Amino acid sequence: MTVPDRRDGNTTKLGGIPVVDRPLGAGFGWLLGAGLAAALVFWLWYGIATPPGSVERYFAERAAALDDGAMVSEEMLRELAGDRFAVQSGEEAYERSCESCHGPAGEGGDVGPNLRSTEWITESSPVEIYTTIVEGRNEDGMPPWGSLGPATCMNITAYLLTIREERDEGEASR
Ligand code: HEC
Repeated sequence: MTVPDRRDGNTTKLGGIPVVDRPLGAGFGWLLGAGLAAALVFWLWYGIATPPGSVERYFAERAAALDDGAMVSEEMLRELAGDRFAVQSGEEAYERSCESCHGPAGEGGDVGPNLRSTEWITESSPVEIYTTIVEGRNEDGMPPWGSLGPATCMNITAYLLTIREERDEGEASR
């Protein structure tokens, strides 16, 4: 196959198809210009003019709401149980504060009851678990943990929901 030489004339053949080599019309120039202008406007608007960036703002607001406990709801706690970072931080907090009474895996200890058990589970909604953690059940030997802060108490709740779910699934498949 011969390589078409465009310098020979206006018409060349590419793979047997005649190709006419004509300058682009002025309309294409405008289109290109308009595209570049739009890109510039976007870049100025989203890259520079919107400090500190809507994504950062969203996370900052979410973190603040988590910190002051304003976000606690059944739905939110269930959702948190699907967030592996929250669950992991909840597990770490559990190991520090709860394990001594409730056992390393929530299976219960000499003092605290089993936190995986289905009886406990069916009776307590996520918000009830959260409230028990924050307020404790002092007369019954469960100290209040509100001083850990709402975010940590929510994360612990999320962790407890996951060990409860594991148990539920295990039972369902048996
Ligand atoms: C000093 C021992 C102790 C520690 C530490 C402790 N708990 Fe408890 N917890 C208990 C006891 C005792 C009960 C049972 C209270 C009762 O009889 O209602 C309980 C009950 C609970 C319940 C309610 C269970 C139910 O049947 O409804 C939850 C949830 C719970 N604890 C979570 C935690 C979490 C989370 C932590 C760590 C932040 C923690 N506990 C730390 C002793 C403890």
